[in-house]
Amino acid sequence: MAVGVFDSGLGGLTVYDALTRRLPDVPFVYFGDNAHAPYGVRDADDIFKLTTAAVERLWEEGCDLVILACNTASAAALRRMQESWLPPGKRVLGVFVPLIEALTERDWGDNSPPREVAVKHVALFATPATVASRAFQRELAFRAIGVDVEAQACGGVVDAIEEGDMILAEALVRSHVDALKRKMPTPEAAVLGCTHYPLMEDVFQDALGAEVSVYSQASLVAESLAHYLGRHPQMKGKGEAAKFLTTGDPRRVSDRATQFLRRKITFEAA
Ligand code: DGL
Repeated sequence: MAVGVFDSGLGGLTVYDALTRRLPDVPFVYFGDNAHAPYGVRDADDIFKLTTAAVERLWEEGCDLVILACNTASAAALRRMQESWLPPGKRVLGVFVPLIEALTERDWGDNSPPREVAVKHVALFATPATVASRAFQRELAFRAIGVDVEAQACGGVVDAIEEGDMILAEALVRSHVDALKRKMPTPEAAVLGCTHYPLMEDVFQDALGAEVSVYSQASLVAESLAHYLGRHPQMKGKGEAAKFLTTGDPRRVSDRATQFLRRKITFEAA
């Protein structure tokens, strides 16, 4: 009964970590496409090709349900996958919707018409491809009215994190927050719309100020998956073994992953 978790690299480990805490009996198979990260600077066709190849590899591991723990893939490829690519019996879920449901005070899977919500000014921090897709604004518009979103493309942050250069990552986060604040001086909420960013959550919070609520996805996605599996228990695929797969160098990727999650993680070649 394995479930697949896909990310372009290591950022999805923040989601993986929350999933394993919330659903300790489900074996998760993690796929990091480290050889092709970052996705955030690629075009939508490229992201679609890479994401579908990774999802097919996860099917081979017996994962009928795959979580795209990557906002860039969710924003640039998910809709096309669901509309014209996915065969019957397979499901792919993204990471935007659970977060937007939380932001707009909805129950999981509540598809009622859009309505007014408490939050009015939202800052979105994401990769250039996610910002360009406007998928966040589109999904938000299905659920809420009157919310002003200012998006900041955070170039360079994912590369710095993948390289383990946290000093550079911190400097970049601070300069992206400054740039956002010049466009929207007083956001009430900030969305960390990239799975790598929770690794820098303290820096975002510090730069934004304590009065801004920072939404990060990991625990929201885990809660929403638990709810989904409760309603669709058959979507736990037949795979049994939890494992970590990478298209990159397994030794190097394992070292970085172990550093991020502060426990031993061993990747194997995908
Ligand atoms: N971690 C991914 C995301 O959530 C993408 C980072 C990248 O590959 O650019 O957007």
